[in-house]
Amino acid sequence: MVEYKLKDGKKIIIREPMIDDAENIISLITKADIESLFLAREPGEFSTTLEREKEIIESIIKDTDSMWFVAEHDKKIVGQCSVGLIKRYLRYRHRAEIAFVIIDDYCNLGIGGKMMEQCLSWCQMHNIEQVELKVVSSNERAIKLYQNFDFKIIATIPNALRYKDGTYVNEYYMIKML
Ligand SMILES: CC(C)(COP(=O)(O)OP(=O)(O)OC[C@H]1O[C@@H](n2cnc3c(N)ncnc32)[C@H](O)[C@@H]1OP(=O)(O)O)[C@@H](O)C(=O)NCCC(=O)NCCS
Repeated sequence: MVEYKLKDGKKIIIREPMIDDAENIISLITKADIESLFLAREPGEFSTTLEREKEIIESIIKDTDSMWFVAEHDKKIVGQCSVGLIKRYLRYRHRAEIAFVIIDDYCNLGIGGKMMEQCLSWCQMHNIEQVELKVVSSNERAIKLYQNFDFKIIATIPNALRYKDGTYVNEYYMIKML
């Protein structure tokens, strides 16, 4: 668990998740899916029960090949990230992928950078040689964050997401070598 002071003076904690976070995490994802066009799901598509979410958190806590970190402010979960092997087979165990989500009110305060530090130190401890992610090509804030940490765009996935209104966006595949 690490405590940070954000750009606006708020104090947040970044830590591993606990089973009791389940309700808070469901609220975070539900809200973020409504706020952001840069995430995988349409609003309302994320559906889970409290019990199922608790089971998922329990398995993540026990899993040695992946981890989540949550950002907590005033007892509320305002951000979450995941890091883990892209596949568990021996031939893939040098590669990890990461994903980030922060609710709108807490974006641009530095939480993404702090969560990235936690993910990268998890990667160092797990002998990861390259970290990979996908990002919508118009998500300038996320791309800036990743470039700040030396991620490079290595490919474009055309028409990666198709929205309900029939429009498409590309995604960049980005990699950081450790
Ligand atoms: C993308 C996301 C994880 C970034 O986290 P964050 O806490 O907002 O980012 P930080 O404050 O740590 O850093 C953002 C950086 O981008 C810069 N930035 C902000 N808005 C920007 C923009 N429109 N264009 C370019 N750079 C921008 C900031 O200046 C900062 O760089 P700096 O530290 O050099 O000043 C977060 O905003 C988020 O979850 N957004 C919604 C969901 C999402 O897009 N998830 C990522 C999917 S790949």
